[in-house]
Amino acid sequence: MSADTVRLSVTNVTAGYGKLQVVNGISLSVGRGEALALLGPNGHGKTTLLRAITGLGPLTGGTVELDGERIDRLGTPAIVERGLMHVPQGCTLFPRLTVGESLNLAGRLKRARRVRSANLELVLGLFPKLVERRGQPVGAMSGGERQMLAIAMGIMANPSVLILDEPTLGLAPKVRHEILRTLLDIRATGLSLLVADGDVDFLFGLADTWCVVELGRTVGRGTTEEKPTQEQMMAMFVGGAHAPTALAAGPDEEDGHA
Ligand SMILES: Nc1ncnc2c1ncn2[C@@H]1O[C@H](COP(=O)(O)OP(=O)(O)OP(=O)(O)O)[C@@H](O)[C@H]1O
Ligand SMILES: [Mg+2]
Repeated sequence: MSADTVRLSVTNVTAGYGKLQVVNGISLSVGRGEALALLGPNGHGKTTLLRAITGLGPLTGGTVELDGERIDRLGTPAIVERGLMHVPQGCTLFPRLTVGESLNLAGRLKRARRVRSANLELVLGLFPKLVERRGQPVGAMSGGERQMLAIAMGIMANPSVLILDEPTLGLAPKVRHEILRTLLDIRATGLSLLVADGDVDFLFGLADTWCVVELGRTVGRGTTEEKPTQEQMMAMFVGGAHAPTALAAGPDEEDGHA
């Protein structure tokens, strides 16, 4: 990826909770209009990494750049205003607001205001269910509808890079498919995506490249043109004991440490 096409660049990031270091030096980059899939066993640091990137959680080392600008010392509101938006795992929404009010709220960010009506038209076109539910309180919606709203709110913030943490968690296959189709449509508009999820078919349908996080390090990367073998799949979900040599080769050149 040439330097001028890189949107998000994460270099040697460490993060954790108090004395517990969970992310042990991860590097990755996402180009314009590209999608990077983050996989790995549960509890190995994907969410911690994503939260550190957007300032929602503590980052103890390394750098994060968005379009060439260091953003790792800015707070989350300033990071979002620069175009990096995060839809968190287990999307926390405001249950008493209606769907319409929630979308308007996300569209109030400074960078989003001037394109609010165009983005509203876009998300309602992408998620027709939200049109039906527009006047309803969020608390009355199904899990799938709430996830659609969370993604729609992410788009209303008018980001250049959208981070999605477990967007299909707990959803039925049909809803997963709808979300996948919608995210592919959004990607086609030039938005870059960084997505952690447990559904490999979903991730491989969406992304160009993948990266496996194990024990807070990247232990494998590849392109989604080539499907992983059954053995590599095992490594992605249960960790190193099952990792083939290629996948468990340790941090690669992008990690910047031995
Ligand atoms: N707020 C917290 N305080 C202390 N430890 C935490 C906190 N959040 C997560 N952890 C710990 O950090 C480690 C990594 O958790 P994290 O949520 O980043 O993993 P994950 O890869 O996103 O897992 P999953 O696939 O289940 O979403 C786990 O051991 C977890 O228990
Ligand atoms: Mg997680």
